[in-house]
Amino acid sequence: MSAPAKRSVTITLDGSNKSTTLPLLSGSVGPDVFDIRKLYADLGVFTFDPGYGATASCDSKITYIDGDEGILLYRGYPIEQLAENSNFLEVCYLLLNGELPTETEGKAFELGVMRHTMLHEQLRTFYNGFRRDAHPMAVMCGVVGALSAFYHDSLDIHDAESRRISAFRLIAKLPTIAAWAHKYTIGQPFVYPRNDLTYAENFLYMFHAVPAEEYKVNPILSKAMDLIMILHADHEQNASTSTVRLAGSTGANPFACIAAGIASLWGPAHGGANEAVLKMLEEIGHVDNIKAFLADVKDKDNHTKLMGFGHRVYKNYDPRAKIMQKACHDVLEELGIKGDPLLDLAVELEKIALSDPYFVERKLYPNVDFYSGIILKAMGFPVSMFTALFAVSRTVGWVSQWKEMIEDPAQRIGRPRQIYTGAPKRDFVPASQRS
Ligand code: SDX
Repeated sequence: MSAPAKRSVTITLDGSNKSTTLPLLSGSVGPDVFDIRKLYADLGVFTFDPGYGATASCDSKITYIDGDEGILLYRGYPIEQLAENSNFLEVCYLLLNGELPTETEGKAFELGVMRHTMLHEQLRTFYNGFRRDAHPMAVMCGVVGALSAFYHDSLDIHDAESRRISAFRLIAKLPTIAAWAHKYTIGQPFVYPRNDLTYAENFLYMFHAVPAEEYKVNPILSKAMDLIMILHADHEQNASTSTVRLAGSTGANPFACIAAGIASLWGPAHGGANEAVLKMLEEIGHVDNIKAFLADVKDKDNHTKLMGFGHRVYKNYDPRAKIMQKACHDVLEELGIKGDPLLDLAVELEKIALSDPYFVERKLYPNVDFYSGIILKAMGFPVSMFTALFAVSRTVGWVSQWKEMIEDPAQRIGRPRQIYTGAPKRDFVPASQRS
């Protein structure tokens, strides 16, 4: 819990003798917060913050972001150091448990996850209910939500062992569910997981392998996949994580909560942006068209956004985007792809945008989605799978945040209020008397 209040703020309502003193709480790092929990009782007023731009919804120890400095820490470790030195399953352990695992703990965790990679065989038939051209995110929402119907033994959210098993099941099964969503849409048979492979290797294997021939995982691709998963693992109280927390606050089971998170992530303003960036780059087509495109973006009547740019928190370069841009160059080079026109276009687009006053004044910088699509496309993933891959990576963040909330003794159902600007109380008028 945050440190006891040392400072406070007193608010007095104009024209009344009502006032209240709100304690100022300090975290371990980052802005202090006003504790407004007694505001309504004392003054009979709410706060108003649509989009929650200045509202702390919870006390969390998992991820810290300094948007002005472009800093991202998972349990205190800088994302750059984890990207350089760790691997995705070790980061999963860190996010869930708060500390990096010892070698023994890491091995046991990896074994625990790999033991849950298979799906209940009846879930295979669940896919058949979808059209072959269903968007993979629609399939992910449905199949993950359906997991509740299969795992009755781990739905007791107040039992630590149930929470542990559910966490393993979700982290382990999302890659299988996502890979099978892809296989289903292209009419290829599902490929079962192999537990002799690493987490990232296993995902690539299930995604690309076919029964007709042996598939060797390219180590360049599995290293890049592991990095991409680390970068997307968690990100404080973003829209989809807040969705998971709100769903979880009602006591809903973890599978239903993660399905809600997947649905929220799908939006183009959030996790769907990586898919939208690729479509935007393909529409721009050539560096000569960048100026005209940016003119459209700056013309409000166009409602055109520079996808992959801007962020509610980062008012500086998203540190993940920097790592991703470098990985793009490395992977393309290692794959022997001599220059990728989309990457060249993205780099030029970024350069021009970052020198344009419109973007500079609004502190709009590339975010994690700006380069991720380029590397995923180079790795052979269809654009429609980009957000599904984001969901696979973010599941550990959602589960960690859900677990932290459920284990918080102060946890209560989330129930925001509103300012009501609709019709005041009025009497019903029979249809015959309405004009
Ligand atoms: C993710 O929250 C997280 O942590 C999310 C995420 C995670 O890991 O979970 O980081 C992942 O969702 C990254 C964001 C991916 N989305 C996109 O790339 C879509 C494009 N970006 C925008 O839609 C927008 O920047 C948001 C949604 C990301 C942030 O929106 P905000 O915070 O509500 O910002 P805003 O709309 O108030 O923008 C402020 C100004 C506005 O202009 P004015 O009204 O002041 O004139 O900047 C403009 C906006 O119109 N603006 C953009 C823009 N983003 C903001 N103009 C053009 N292109 C953009 N991309």
